[in-house]
Amino acid sequence: MLRLIFFGPPGAGKGTQAERVAKDRRIAHISTGDMLRAELRGATPLGLAAKAYMDRGELVPDDVIIGMVKERIAKPDCQNGYLFDGFPRTVAQADALLAITPIDRVINIDVPFERLVARISGRRMCDSCGAAYHVSTYDKGDCRCGGQLYHRDDDRPETVENRLRVYEQSTAPLVAYFADKGLLATVNGDARINEVEAEIAGILPA
Ligand code: AP5
Ligand code: MG
Repeated sequence: MLRLIFFGPPGAGKGTQAERVAKDRRIAHISTGDMLRAELRGATPLGLAAKAYMDRGELVPDDVIIGMVKERIAKPDCQNGYLFDGFPRTVAQADALLAITPIDRVINIDVPFERLVARISGRRMCDSCGAAYHVSTYDKGDCRCGGQLYHRDDDRPETVENRLRVYEQSTAPLVAYFADKGLLATVNGDARINEVEAEIAGILPA
């Protein structure tokens, strides 16, 4: 059983790295952002309620997110463990999570703020598997899985600025929170994708 959190600001590479590690370690990749976008595509009440927050770059209320995660980790594909990507984002979410499951390690992906905007503005996401690409290295219209690539609505410059502000205000305090609990390991996210992956692999429990 392996229970991980991939932590970092918008554009740090949480999703990129989480996808690789989850596949390699055969654990569930739980991205609250991907889950919300799937709800939105399905036009569910939860998705429609979340849209207004996401479009502004604000956090979706804690009770909605915590309820969604509790339901998710009860599913059979979580028996081997799970990797959270983009959750928790507030102290209330972290407290709620640690009350329902122990966590083995929090990987903090550290990238200088000035790099994040360029990464996010050039990102294209797959509408089927959620994989992230960057236009500087891949500009075909299709994902390797066959899905279509799209530009996320909340990747507009004005929304990105607010997402970074919200990260600083509400989420960054969790760095100290997890360090205090002895769970935090920080990796240099300002390196090639494979190099970041190797640094993470060296830190994770066997
Ligand atoms: P969410 O989907 O979680 O977005 P985010 O945290 O803003 O993070 P991103 O997905 O933008 O970045 P990432 O770190 O995954 O980077 P990626 O790997 O794609 O959340 C969206 C919204 O949903 C929130 O604003 C909020 O409204 C809501 N929400 C979600 N969870 C919530 C929660 N827990 N509580 C409340 N609200 C919640 O990489 C980015 C780009 O960089 C890509 O183009 C990629 O190809 C490229 N890249 C990756 N690694 C590298 C590298 N090493 N070198 C160069 N380029 C790289
Ligand atoms: Mg992501």
